[in-house]
Amino acid sequence: MDPQVGQDMVSSQQAGQEAGPEVAEALVAPETRPAPAAAGAAVFDARGVSIFYGSFRAVTDVSLTIHQHEITAFIGPSGCGKTTVLRTLNRMNDLVPGARVEGEVHYHGVPLYGKDVSATAVRRRIGMVFQKPNPFPKSIYDNVAYGPRINGIRGKARLDEIVERSLRQGALWDEVKDRLNTSALALSGGQAQRLCIARTLAVEPDVVLMDEPCSALDPIATGAIEDLMQEIKSRYTIVIVTHNMQQAARVSDRTAFYSVLVNPGSDTRTGTLVEYGTTEHMFSDPTDNRTKAYVTGRMG
Ligand SMILES: Nc1ncnc2c1ncn2[C@@H]1O[C@H](COP(=O)(O)OP(=O)(O)O)[C@@H](O)[C@H]1O
Ligand SMILES: [Mg+2]
Repeated sequence: MDPQVGQDMVSSQQAGQEAGPEVAEALVAPETRPAPAAAGAAVFDARGVSIFYGSFRAVTDVSLTIHQHEITAFIGPSGCGKTTVLRTLNRMNDLVPGARVEGEVHYHGVPLYGKDVSATAVRRRIGMVFQKPNPFPKSIYDNVAYGPRINGIRGKARLDEIVERSLRQGALWDEVKDRLNTSALALSGGQAQRLCIARTLAVEPDVVLMDEPCSALDPIATGAIEDLMQEIKSRYTIVIVTHNMQQAARVSDRTAFYSVLVNPGSDTRTGTLVEYGTTEHMFSDPTDNRTKAYVTGRMG
């Protein structure tokens, strides 16, 4: 993917309202764009990030780097802040009233929470797939064409091409190519989730965030999604939250283990990043005893 994308989200001319993505792109002079990064370069760099819901500090002091064309897994017990950190990466938390981010999150070197960065453009570059498949009540075709149409793409031939490419990347094309105009709501759970992935890929994002995308799926559908993640990772950067440690071990290049810190004195809890490293290290020889206990199933 294009490493210029971070810069593409910056509009130098904020007039109080959000600039559309095309506007933001148009406003960036080519010479201000960073040089192309090598594979494996930093896509996100989070430093000292704490995330609040009102006065509640849900996550404390997370620092990590997410690398290009890798699959990064977030694991840890329920409530440790995996979803909260994930949503920070595409400013989805902006949509939660009272949510607030402290610290620095850089995306391709650009401060993601900079005042001149368009959250709409951010979410166009950084797509999200949710736990529960959420196809729109439209045809299969119109689900996939939805984002491209919003981005101004017209013309049947061009849209046909995008729909086919996206459904192929989503490993769904062969199953639906003869019924593209039927309702997406008739798909099975596993098919619906692959459709949602195809819909996300249709706008050619830079990053795909996935929040427990397989938790509602059977093992065969889960396998299909894991295979497709491997297929697409040469073109995208993927961050996946999973409560399934075997899945993290199977699919990811790096794993971040989060846990909950309890302060008995003040009776408060907060999520913390315990350890982050290559998946091989995290599962075979973790440094922290809490990681060891978790990945060997002695704590959950
Ligand atoms: N919208 C919200 N408003 C208030 N608290 C929230 C909200 N979303 C999550 N939390 C709290 O933040 C903490 C982390 O939650 P979450 O990120 O969902 O954890 P995980 O995904 O690891 O299960 C939990 O204590 C949860 O109750
Ligand atoms: Mg969650």
